[in-house]
Amino acid sequence: MKKIVAGLVVAMGLTGMAHAAGDAAAGQQNAMVCGGCHGTDGNSMVPNFPKLAGQGEKYLLKQMKDIKGGARAVPEMTGILTAFSDQDLENIAAYFSSQKVAVGQAAADMVAKGQSLYRAGNKATGVAACTACHGPSGKGVELAAFPSLSGQHPQYVENQLKKFRSGERTNDGDSQIMRSIAGRLTDAEISAVASYVSGLH
Ligand code: HEC
Ligand code: HEC
Repeated sequence: MKKIVAGLVVAMGLTGMAHAAGDAAAGQQNAMVCGGCHGTDGNSMVPNFPKLAGQGEKYLLKQMKDIKGGARAVPEMTGILTAFSDQDLENIAAYFSSQKVAVGQAAADMVAKGQSLYRAGNKATGVAACTACHGPSGKGVELAAFPSLSGQHPQYVENQLKKFRSGERTNDGDSQIMRSIAGRLTDAEISAVASYVSGLH
């Protein structure tokens, strides 16, 4: 009996480890080196540097692995992730995900255009509604690793849409979902939707 119980405990311990989500408290230590650019609580003060606070854990982990492995080029982060194990990265993702994003405010003259594109897409040019994947309040879909856009810096969002459009960013998978959407957006639509999501929550 003792043996069986011990065996069960070991088995449960192992499965527990295999499925372990990140440990936010452990991640906070390693996240120190990110603070200069992304803010110690993940609310970056620099418009080009993404806020990580409140971002989905799965999405953060995917991006860190993509950046570390070179699938997404971020020259500013060269070498920063190399020393971290997958578990370290999971912990960092858990830490930033547990922080609260500081939501901004959309520019008043952009709200109508941005909101219309976000909620309904653009039928004339075949652009899907952003809300389908990024959610009605911009929070994304954690399990699908669809990122949160809520409160993100408009400049950063604009940069990403232009990078998808030009094909400079290609880590959106074989479906090329964001490259095909951004490829149909005008500069004016990009500015409007970027401003809109910065205030969305
Ligand atoms: C020297 C500045 C700098 C440092 C330090 C830095 N980053 Fe970054 N990071 C950036 C920039 C710039 C981008 C986005 C570049 C782009 O695609 O336009 C970025 C992007 C990211 C993204 C993608 C976010 C998204 O919404 O897709 C993640 C995740 C990330 N960084 C995590 C980290 C972590 C974790 C650390 C610390 C271990 C770190 N970064 C340290 C500058 C930095
Ligand atoms: C069918 C689902 C889908 C739709 C519709 C969609 N997106 Fe995305 N979007 C994604 C996925 C998935 C990613 C993450 C790609 C990756 O893993 O790098 C993404 C990434 C992004 C990013 C980068 C986020 C970051 O932190 O770097 C932005 C910005 C974005 N989408 C904006 C939009 C806008 C604006 C629209 C509407 C015009 C839109 N998306 C419609 C699925 C979608």
